[in-house]
Amino acid sequence: MNDPKGMRKGLTSYGDERFSLFLRKAFIKAMGYSDEALERPIIGITNTFSAYNACHRTVPELIEAIKRGVMLAGGLPVEFPTISLHEAFAYPSSMFLRNLMAMDAEEMIRAQPMDAVVLIGGCDKTVPALLMGAASANVPAMLVVTGPMLTGSHRGERLGACTDCRRYWGQYRAGQIDEQEIEEISAKLVPSAGTCGIMGTASTMALMAEALGMMLAGGAAIPAVHADRLRHAEAAGARAVGLAAEGLTPGQIMTPDAFANALRVLLAIGGSTNGIIHIAAMAGRLGIEVDLAALDRMARETPVIVDLKPSGRYYMEDLHRAGGLAPVLRELRPLLNLDCLTVSGRRLGEDLDTLPPSWEQDVVRPLDHPLYAEGGLAVLRGNLGQAVLKQSAASAELLRHQGRAVVFESLDDLAQRIDSDALDVRADDVLVLRNAGPKGAPGMPESGYIPIPRKLARQGVTDMVRISDARMSGTAFGTIVLHVCPEAAVGGSLALVQNGDSIRLDAAARQLELLIDDKELARRRAAWRAPPAHPGSERGYLKLFLEHVLQADRGCDFDFLARTPTTTKTP
Ligand code: FES
Repeated sequence: MNDPKGMRKGLTSYGDERFSLFLRKAFIKAMGYSDEALERPIIGITNTFSAYNACHRTVPELIEAIKRGVMLAGGLPVEFPTISLHEAFAYPSSMFLRNLMAMDAEEMIRAQPMDAVVLIGGCDKTVPALLMGAASANVPAMLVVTGPMLTGSHRGERLGACTDCRRYWGQYRAGQIDEQEIEEISAKLVPSAGTCGIMGTASTMALMAEALGMMLAGGAAIPAVHADRLRHAEAAGARAVGLAAEGLTPGQIMTPDAFANALRVLLAIGGSTNGIIHIAAMAGRLGIEVDLAALDRMARETPVIVDLKPSGRYYMEDLHRAGGLAPVLRELRPLLNLDCLTVSGRRLGEDLDTLPPSWEQDVVRPLDHPLYAEGGLAVLRGNLGQAVLKQSAASAELLRHQGRAVVFESLDDLAQRIDSDALDVRADDVLVLRNAGPKGAPGMPESGYIPIPRKLARQGVTDMVRISDARMSGTAFGTIVLHVCPEAAVGGSLALVQNGDSIRLDAAARQLELLIDDKELARRRAAWRAPPAHPGSERGYLKLFLEHVLQADRGCDFDFLARTPTTTKTP
């Protein structure tokens, strides 16, 4: 027997299927639908609008455009709400809530009758959350992103969230700009709706999702407020009806080869380190493990070719003018798996051939004239565990460095002491922040961008080696070692570092070492005690989170949501 379609899918359990359908139709008719409309393929649309979320301000008009496309193709569009997450409006961090959004998306896609679903993501965690949920629900799905914001201008200088937020805040901390000017800047950093306009996590995830095949070609870089974005949404709606008819599921698109394409793009665009975590979580839903050693090998042979902040000069609207992801994929063509299916129903290589030809521009460089000869990310190993470094955003002179550890026990400790004149710190020290990982913080916030101690900032110090078990915003820059795994809160070696220890970073050799002997390390390990329980951890989502969150190398998904055991690896 064929799988039920449309309104007949996933009937509520009353023990009488005909009654369940009768009741469902009675209620949906109260929405004003005709019988003819209810016989059409149903295309769900996730409504991720929230008045807290400026990155998703345009979701209502995207929904209208997607609906238009669905109806032009003969389907019935039905929008439904999901959780919406904005980076600056999620306590304690949006990462803490990503899995909750993924569960919401998965269960609502599964629970409600829809033959396909169009997922509207944008702000950092929303894209991975929706794709994780869709991967597990395995209903035909495609992604539309809200798109990047436009750039603004401050006293003649072009600016955009949020690399420039951090740059100007650094200048303010160093006393180079005053209170009045920083207020003036805050009104100009986010001049339009849309996601951060640099190569932050939102842009990284959008470009990777397109390379992964979960978005129609050409959709990642169109600015949020351009008319082209609405035309893309309309096309997505129309295509979703075809996707439903073909029954093309996320599991058929998100294959190990397709994830390898996404990771290749992550490296070539100088993308956010968060991309690794989110891809690990998405792949984990399908029983695919991200092989970090293989990713590091891939990084060594994949140059950074996109000249966007924070690694380079430009903004996402410039990448759109340069042709979006297409010129990047064309440069990478010999390194990609072109046979991967995409939501268009075609192969990646075929999709690429349908896009307009490239033109002369200087945002996407040729492979033989890259911005950085190696990929933006490096996977480090040593007695401190495994970690990630975004070397394209680091200071070249610090990529090989040995210094004295200055340890911060927690985020609170960091906040209390970093600006103290009494802090014993020198420019060549290594700042260490611990208990800021998935369980330690909790939620692995983007606090790995440890501020330069104020007394050093005032002396003109702009970068230091910084190490933590936290994450970092894709908009940030500096010689920052992140995602140390296992994290300190579960007894990883980061918990054992003491003030004054020597730490050596050697990015070329992929080494991160605490320079103490094994005996001393073992002695400290035996004496280690777990940090006290988080307040409120005896109940609710926090309890669920702390009991089930996986480490960074497994994408910080919940152990009961990832498919185990993994059956294959990527890249
Ligand atoms: Fe939403 Fe940056 S805050 S993308």
